[in-house]
Amino acid sequence: MIVVTGASGQLGRLVMAELLKSVPASNLAAAVRNPEKVADLAGLGVVVRRADYNQPETLEAAFAGADRLLLISSSEVGSRAPQHANAIAAAQKAGVGLIAYTSLLHADASPLPLREEHLATERMLAESGMPHVLLRNGWYTENYAASIPAALMYGVVLGSAGEGRIASAARADYAAAAAAVLLSEGQAGRVYELAGDEAYSLSEFTAEVARQSGKAVAYRNLPEAQFEAALKGAGLPQGLATLLAESDRGASKGGLFDDSRTLSRLIGRPTTPLAEVVRAALAQ
Ligand SMILES: NC(=O)c1ccc[n+]([C@@H]2O[C@H](COP(=O)([O-])OP(=O)(O)OC[C@H]3O[C@@H](n4cnc5c(N)ncnc54)[C@H](OP(=O)(O)O)[C@@H]3O)[C@@H](O)[C@H]2O)c1
Repeated sequence: MIVVTGASGQLGRLVMAELLKSVPASNLAAAVRNPEKVADLAGLGVVVRRADYNQPETLEAAFAGADRLLLISSSEVGSRAPQHANAIAAAQKAGVGLIAYTSLLHADASPLPLREEHLATERMLAESGMPHVLLRNGWYTENYAASIPAALMYGVVLGSAGEGRIASAARADYAAAAAAVLLSEGQAGRVYELAGDEAYSLSEFTAEVARQSGKAVAYRNLPEAQFEAALKGAGLPQGLATLLAESDRGASKGGLFDDSRTLSRLIGRPTTPLAEVVRAALAQ
């Protein structure tokens, strides 16, 4: 039995789709806080269990019988360390055979403040003594693709990443990697630094959007505080604006770069090119 938390999320859904290609649905469980969100998976025969990281009592039962558990990091930034602690404790009680955790690229050395919760989780996993494998995911290319409608409307992409090179990959690439790890033997103790085959600066990303759309779009690099204020002015909540601005500062220092090609080796194909993600975003 393979249990996947966050299976109602964007990455989790892609992981389930990958696993369903080679595992009978009845051997897969979606551990989610809102079971109604995955009624489609239940319809395919996937076992659905309620699992809320904030409600430890739901977790042990949700993880029961799991040979392998994919712990997809929570989206509730700031609460993740205690939430993941609940999940790890429950996995231990349930006797889970192996935990795969979606961490952050170079979590042990990353200049991104986001690393703190991931590093705390990695330490908890180490201290638990449970067999585990770290999927240190880089940035999703979709993070930038989401800014394309505003970029076309205003003719500008704002950021604070300078000339930092970003080796992002599509969510589907990271999902394929998670599935590959869950489906193979000998994974305990491994640490995967996962990133895209190609890297680009935000200027190059902007140039690609301009090229494909045929519209004039320019990249404007701002000091971190100004970028954060601009994001807030555009209606983003303070916490998210801070997180994105801090992450751009980390990117400017190379925090989102990796050229090991571990991800493409793991999935047995090249990672999805930036041009393809931009094309898909423009087609929406
Ligand atoms: N590498 C990157 O660029 C990047 C970018 C963004 C996020 N991330 C991290 O990667 C994770 C997966 O990415 P994603 O795109 O799939 O994010 P997502 O679509 O926001 O999915 C987050 C998942 O976490 C679940 N979740 C949130 N709080 C929970 C709780 N208290 N108990 C149980 N489940 C909870 C959500 O459940 P509901 O469906 O019920 O909300 C959802 O299934 C994120 O959660 C975040 O930690 C990485």
